[in-house]
Amino acid sequence: MIERGTMRRAFHELFGREPRLFRAPGRVNLIGEHTDYNGGFVLPLAIERETLVAAAVREDRRIVAHSLNLDERAGFDLDEPGGGGRRGIWLDYVEGMARSLESRGARLRGAELLILSDVPVGAGLSSSAALEVSAGLALTSLAGAHVDGVELVLAGQQAEHTYVGTMCGIMDQFVVSLGRAGHALLIDCRTLEATPVPLDTRETAIVICDSRVKHELSSSEYNTRRAECERGVELLSEYLPGVTQLRDVSAEGFERYESRLPEPIRRRCRHVVQENERALRAADALRRGDLAEVGCLMRRSHESLRDDYEVSCAELDLLAETAWSYGEGVVGSRMTGGGFGGSTVSLVRRAALEDFERTITTEYQKAKGFAPAVYVTDAGDGAGEITQNSER
Ligand code: GLA
Repeated sequence: MIERGTMRRAFHELFGREPRLFRAPGRVNLIGEHTDYNGGFVLPLAIERETLVAAAVREDRRIVAHSLNLDERAGFDLDEPGGGGRRGIWLDYVEGMARSLESRGARLRGAELLILSDVPVGAGLSSSAALEVSAGLALTSLAGAHVDGVELVLAGQQAEHTYVGTMCGIMDQFVVSLGRAGHALLIDCRTLEATPVPLDTRETAIVICDSRVKHELSSSEYNTRRAECERGVELLSEYLPGVTQLRDVSAEGFERYESRLPEPIRRRCRHVVQENERALRAADALRRGDLAEVGCLMRRSHESLRDDYEVSCAELDLLAETAWSYGEGVVGSRMTGGGFGGSTVSLVRRAALEDFERTITTEYQKAKGFAPAVYVTDAGDGAGEITQNSER
């Protein structure tokens, strides 16, 4: 956890005033991958790593942001529409969020922001959603604009679509905003209804292995996958009236008509249809404490992402396979997030934890020449203000 006092002191040194403090965590998804933008189901949790924003209002409408990670300062004026436009740097997420919030009706005030994060960038753990949501929460709170959690979520997604250029779904911003400690969230990405599912980590730990690679294609391939799914819906709706998203297609309905779909659209759709079922079944199995079933579903999810959806890569496959072949101590393992690099998520028995970390590090290092980053996490809370009283 980032030390709160350090943030307050650093803000005071840089801006000469007392700030308010806000936070938003990163996330990891247990199962339900590439289903969110198909109106389907996901099962992510907020992790303990987080982005902190210390903030105070200004009298004008300028946003001045200072990144402590990069020791860089940048800013924009809310009254200059479009500002500098997309810069391809971290400020885009802050500016994209501010402009989305204003376009959705919030009236913001100028502010000084100090940002510090321990969510690794490019690891598939939603460092961008954490930045968007923490900055959005800071800006709306300082302006006294009453924006509820879901509105913040939608503004974050809009920032990605219009400012950053990734046509992402709703999962990341949703769980980053509204995650619940000790729980994963089963999110229905069509209705935006979320059901907390208890995660008991006393005996089984959640382990993230960051491959420390991020392949170039990730953003363009992501948008291509999304378009392929939409094409699949168009074609399937000729046979299955009323289908508007892959979420509406049952496994049986799909089997009946899949032969009408060209490749690779057939395989893309098959992944999504089956992954939705897996996410629902995994949530159910977790509630029942049936970890063996959860592990089985995680493995099938990975295989489907690798073979049908084709968003895995050699590094993620290696991490997942090493975990699968580890034996009893590993309940399940799969790639998590958009793919093409980033991380895997594994459920590992606490008794085997140290040995597992050693094994996966050694095996990966042997094959790749560098070590993965391994994080053990619990499910934490979503975004919020950190008041002096709540500081530990
Ligand atoms: C990225 C996107 C999410 C989701 C995942 C894949 O993290 O931001 O909306 O689509 O990929 O499940």
